[in-house]
Amino acid sequence: MIPDHVTLVEVGPRDGLQNEPLPVATAHKIELVRRLVVAGLREIEVTSYVSPKWVPQMADNAQVMAAVPRQSGLRLSVLVPNMLGLQAALAGGAATRPDEVVIFGAASQAFSQRNINCSIEQSIERFAPVVVAAHEAGLKVRSAISCALGCPYQGEVTADEVEHLVKLFKQLGVDHCGVADTIGVGTPRRVQAVMERALKHYPLDQVSGHFHDTYGQALVNIHACLELGISTFDTSVAGLGGCPYAKGATGNVATEDVVFMLQGMGISTGIDLDALVDAGAYISDALGRAPVSRVGKALLIKRGRVFA
Ligand code: HMG
Ligand code: MG
Repeated sequence: MIPDHVTLVEVGPRDGLQNEPLPVATAHKIELVRRLVVAGLREIEVTSYVSPKWVPQMADNAQVMAAVPRQSGLRLSVLVPNMLGLQAALAGGAATRPDEVVIFGAASQAFSQRNINCSIEQSIERFAPVVVAAHEAGLKVRSAISCALGCPYQGEVTADEVEHLVKLFKQLGVDHCGVADTIGVGTPRRVQAVMERALKHYPLDQVSGHFHDTYGQALVNIHACLELGISTFDTSVAGLGGCPYAKGATGNVATEDVVFMLQGMGISTGIDLDALVDAGAYISDALGRAPVSRVGKALLIKRGRVFA
């Protein structure tokens, strides 16, 4: 049942960098994506077309999209919360065009309100024309279901609440179902229970897990998903993400850590771990800190790097 190949969707350039409190140079973002491509990542969430007032770090979306590498077999995605976002993502024509858009809703009303300033029902109304127009433009549409394992405002989130949103996205014609543990509180059996709800509506190859590692549960939750046959996961190089000033907030599970675990299990990813560690070191140096990735740090120390 455990898959022999896993696809990792690198979300570091978007989910990882969006919370950085100081501006990250556009050139660093572009070089990060270039290095990720060199390392063998073939699905990369590059940026988001959201309000720059809400997320100033992603305001250079079009410049980044215009300069990142393009090659066949490489799928670049961007987040779009509404039609305005999709129109902006398509405005530059071929030069800035993504291959895929991600619409993002929440399993809890409270998080939907805080994150995208509308209820779950209103978000579905906003997403409906986005899905149609994105498909007309030849783009794949992926969803992210935030707070699938718990909400910072509501607390517990039930599998029924998650399945409700899965069904709404399915009815809209969304191609792929991303299940996100936004605050990293999920544990393996609960993760499996929620994933089984998604798998009632989507095939195995169109369900993915997105685990923030706040409570150190991400790797074991990925393993729990592998046991169900799920083979796509979002990960963030160097463990980028979270706000350094928000106590306890952390990023997605580090891509290096996941690749190391999968390699050890004999599961292929197509990713060159050494080149990935280079990419993680590059962006961590640019941000002025050590990689959060345990594997990244360990391999860099082995190469002779010294961290304070
Ligand atoms: P709103 O204020 O409710 O929207 O924001 P509005 O339609 O009333 O528009 C207000 C202003 O925003 C207007 O500008 C619009 O033009 C502008 P003004 O007239 O005031 O100058 N606007 C936009 N500008 C650029 N791009 C757009 C856009 N839409 C409106 N697409 C909105 C609604 C959703 C836009 C806002 O709440 C927003 O941008 N939120 C940011 C959400 C976000 O990026 N969150 C982080 C990503 S999600 C995530 O990290 C979770 C995930 O990783 C999974 C997980 O871990 O859970 C995916
Ligand atoms: Mg996230």
